[in-house]
Amino acid sequence: MQIRLWPYIFLGTATGGVAAILATLEEPFWIIFASVLVLVIVFALLQEAMRDPVEEGDVVVVEPAKTMPTGFGRAMLEQLPLPLLVISRRGRVVYANRAAKEVLPTLKFGDHFANLLRIPAFVDAVNAAISEGKNSKVSFTMTRPQERYYEANIGLMPAGSDFGDKVQAIVQIEDRTQDRRVEKMRSDFVANASHELRTPLASILGYIETLQGHAKDDPAAREEFLEIMDKQATRMQRLVNDLMSLSRIELNEHIKPSDPCALNELVLETTSALLPLQKKYDVTLETALEGDPVVAANRDQLNQVLVNLIDNAMKYGGSGTTVKVFTTPPDPHYADMVGITVADQGAGIGPEHLHRLTERFYRVNAAQSRNKGGTGLGLAIVKHIVNRHGGELQIESTLGEGSQFTVWLPSS
Ligand SMILES: Nc1ncnc2c1ncn2[C@@H]1O[C@H](COP(=O)(O)OP(=O)(O)OP(=O)(O)O)[C@@H](O)[C@H]1O
Ligand SMILES: [Mg+2]
Repeated sequence: MQIRLWPYIFLGTATGGVAAILATLEEPFWIIFASVLVLVIVFALLQEAMRDPVEEGDVVVVEPAKTMPTGFGRAMLEQLPLPLLVISRRGRVVYANRAAKEVLPTLKFGDHFANLLRIPAFVDAVNAAISEGKNSKVSFTMTRPQERYYEANIGLMPAGSDFGDKVQAIVQIEDRTQDRRVEKMRSDFVANASHELRTPLASILGYIETLQGHAKDDPAAREEFLEIMDKQATRMQRLVNDLMSLSRIELNEHIKPSDPCALNELVLETTSALLPLQKKYDVTLETALEGDPVVAANRDQLNQVLVNLIDNAMKYGGSGTTVKVFTTPPDPHYADMVGITVADQGAGIGPEHLHRLTERFYRVNAAQSRNKGGTGLGLAIVKHIVNRHGGELQIESTLGEGSQFTVWLPSS
């Protein structure tokens, strides 16, 4: 404990001065005595009001402290992955384990907890625990250095624990960022999938109604509407198939394929199967393959990757252009990997979109994609399959020149 002398020097001078003045005024002794007594009492009350609980030992000053858990108990608390804080009755932080110091790097023992986390709900909950003994749970967001979501359980630690003989608040903080992200992804996914299904379904129902009504006896209109209904129903079917395919891939994503697969042979097979699309999109498909790389792969899934990438390149490449599928020259960034690139001469993709392209239902131009029967799931499927194979998807694009999608796979 640190003793400051100046208040006592001030008290001595003040009482001495008052006594001297009263003595020169020839006041009776009992008045001098009473005045000095009042001064001393006022001084004592002021000292008590200004007392710093941490310095006065009311709260334990930590590291090392007599009343903190020691040995096994302390080691266990330090190893606990959950951040844990103990807060004194006066609101000072008296203990924080290692995990808490990681979450709150500016934490100093003896600091008031409200300076540490300036979140009204949290401050109120800790105060309620200290003053009313109420247990509670609060959620809060910290925006620096990155946005993270936390949940704090606040309770009261009974007197007489290893932390000291006074009642104190115990705060346990849980990082809920990952849970929140997964929750948001799931709800976004359900919302997007429902939206994608609802649109063609509403269109089909609308045409059925028209066909039952005024277009009943109009063969030309019937023909036209049936064609539109067929297009919408096909899109719905593709969407359901893609969703099922995605969930099947996700289910096995942790299992690495082990069957050897001659990559170039597979590429040639896939491109030959897609040659009829040249006419549909008015695009020329060319291949230039080198070597004879073998990769550990699931053939059907790799075929799906190539089909999705080549289909995109032909679809978004534009009429009269060429789509090239070629062996990528080795790249030190992708050591021990073989690459196959699908390049188009389309409008290209803006850099702001590149990092989001593999998100489910993400489209640069939603109307254009839907118009072409797209579900917006193609690249998400590609990414999951490539991940399953331990590979990487590299996307490069220049506006006005075209895009290159390269699949890198570990060579075996
Ligand atoms: N080669 C490309 N050139 C330009 N834009 C592309 C290219 N490939 C993908 N995109 C953009 O990325 C978006 C997502 O592609 P993705 O393959 O996931 O969905 P889609 O092609 O719209 O639908 P689907 O693949 O189900 O037919 C597309 O909507 C398009 O905007
Ligand atoms: Mg696609």
